[in-house]
Amino acid sequence: MCGIVGYTGKDLALPIILGALERLEYRGYDSAGVALVEDGKLIIEKKAGKLRELVKALWGKNYKAKTGIGHTRWATHGSPSDENAHPHTDEKVRFAVVHNGIIENYLALKEELIKEGVKFRSDTDTEVIAHLIAKYYEGDLLEAVLKTVNRLEGAFAFAVVTVHEPNRIVGAKKGSPLIVGVGEGENFLASDIPAILPYTKNVIVLDDGEVADLTPESVNVYSFSGEPVTKEVLVTPWDLVSAEKGGFKHFMLKEIHEQPKAVVDTYKGFLSVEPSIPFSLKDFRRVLVIACGTSYHAGLVGKYWMERYAGVPVEVVYASEFRYGHFPVSDKDLVIGISQSGETIDTKFALQSAKEKGAFTVGLVNVVGSAIDRESDYTLYTHAGPEIGVAATKTFTAQLTALYCLAVRESDEKEQLLKRFEKVPALMERTLSSAEEVEKKAEKYMKYKHFLYLGRYLSWPVALEGALKLKEISYIHAEGYPAGEMKHGPIALIDENMPVMVVAPKDRVYEKIVSNVEEVKARKGKVIAVGFEGDGVLTQKSDDFIPVPAVDEPLTPFLTTVPLQLFAYYIASKLGLDVDQPRNLAKTVTVE
Ligand code: AGP
Repeated sequence: MCGIVGYTGKDLALPIILGALERLEYRGYDSAGVALVEDGKLIIEKKAGKLRELVKALWGKNYKAKTGIGHTRWATHGSPSDENAHPHTDEKVRFAVVHNGIIENYLALKEELIKEGVKFRSDTDTEVIAHLIAKYYEGDLLEAVLKTVNRLEGAFAFAVVTVHEPNRIVGAKKGSPLIVGVGEGENFLASDIPAILPYTKNVIVLDDGEVADLTPESVNVYSFSGEPVTKEVLVTPWDLVSAEKGGFKHFMLKEIHEQPKAVVDTYKGFLSVEPSIPFSLKDFRRVLVIACGTSYHAGLVGKYWMERYAGVPVEVVYASEFRYGHFPVSDKDLVIGISQSGETIDTKFALQSAKEKGAFTVGLVNVVGSAIDRESDYTLYTHAGPEIGVAATKTFTAQLTALYCLAVRESDEKEQLLKRFEKVPALMERTLSSAEEVEKKAEKYMKYKHFLYLGRYLSWPVALEGALKLKEISYIHAEGYPAGEMKHGPIALIDENMPVMVVAPKDRVYEKIVSNVEEVKARKGKVIAVGFEGDGVLTQKSDDFIPVPAVDEPLTPFLTTVPLQLFAYYIASKLGLDVDQPRNLAKTVTVE
């Protein structure tokens, strides 16, 4: 949560920082700000609200600075206001800091600084960093940062600039992500790779406990104890095109349409590493899948596949529940942490704790070099490219792809099962070609205030995911439920004001779910059904039918997911909502 960026180089810093913040805005968007080092002083501009408010405030101001930092915020300490927006400075405005994370001991530090006569301007935890750096500064910014980081508890990534050393940025990382973009005559700091893609593909991923010292010509990395660290420069496979909207109204719509490619790329990526995967699911007494949100739903689908093809029991647990629960975990367990960002703190901590208990940990991430990638015993990657829309779409189906491949490699029928999968991308394309039909249904149902999403077997997690998509971007209450459980409670909610989205491909539970449709209709409920093309029963029994191409039973989630994503997208878009940046959410959740 929160995006930070820093630039020092040959060009004007402000447009570069604003462009980078635009590409980082998915990380938080309740206020934004910049600090520029110009003519021996710091220029601070910051505004509550989205980045466009900051851009408006900067309109017509031609700052010449070639070094600066920027921030886009997801509030933790202090409400979203101009004062609480970053950057924060020391009292004399000689040092400016942007920060992502939480300083857990900030109250104690604040008291200490107040006793020393320091006056605070904001309610944030971040401000203590600026005052500490000012306190410790004796002519070398790096030295002051090293003294400061050793006083801080909690998770942080921050960047600091100072009037005393105008062509220098120092950044520090512990717990929150921070990368260095290595350019020619210019260098960058950022929370995530898309920020720097127009300028360089050369990236240094900082590890926890490291400080980066940047000038236009140099990048040096040190440990918190001040020892130089040699870092590898990676070349990111991501490109700028994948981080831009490419003619689509929203990133989410673009990313929904990118799914066939995300699935193919992940499939090919999996096949290329498959012979060297150092474990078999069958080696373990149990597989535990740990994840949050959409990634958790992918895990639920994966459970069916792993149990079916590997015959190993699989438990899927919310990462936030795992950490403080009493799950007996040992070296007999394989623990898979699923996270598109690879930075979700609950998932990261849960994996760490499983590893400490002796489990073999596997990360399934979309971001190479992310915390979960680096900390897991082994990493599988989804190759979905950067996902900017806050609502996960292409990373979900890419996660399904990797989980499907991981499961079927345990089967005697592996070759046939993989072969059958190869039809999926084209069938997804066909499903996407009917987007306009889904749009019409969205128009019809957009005014309803509550939805129930039902599915059974593999379609239950799909229903959960469909409901999550609708609630997070349209703010409409949507509840996902296993269809067989409806009669145990939720059926009481059914009336003409509660449309029911039923996911009903022709699989082993098809007849059962058709009965559930009847039960809804008997109570005057409205049914929107997603099923196979040519399904006369569902066409006749439901109020609205959304067809997807018929496919083998295990592969149905790849197709039934797509209309649910489109349905949520079109409702939110027609309601005029900010689809890519829904209120209160952030793409990467790095607070517990
Ligand atoms: C998905 O649409 C959500 N924005 C959210 O639930 C997300 O899936 C969750 O925060 C997990 O993120 P991760 O995959 O990066 O760990």
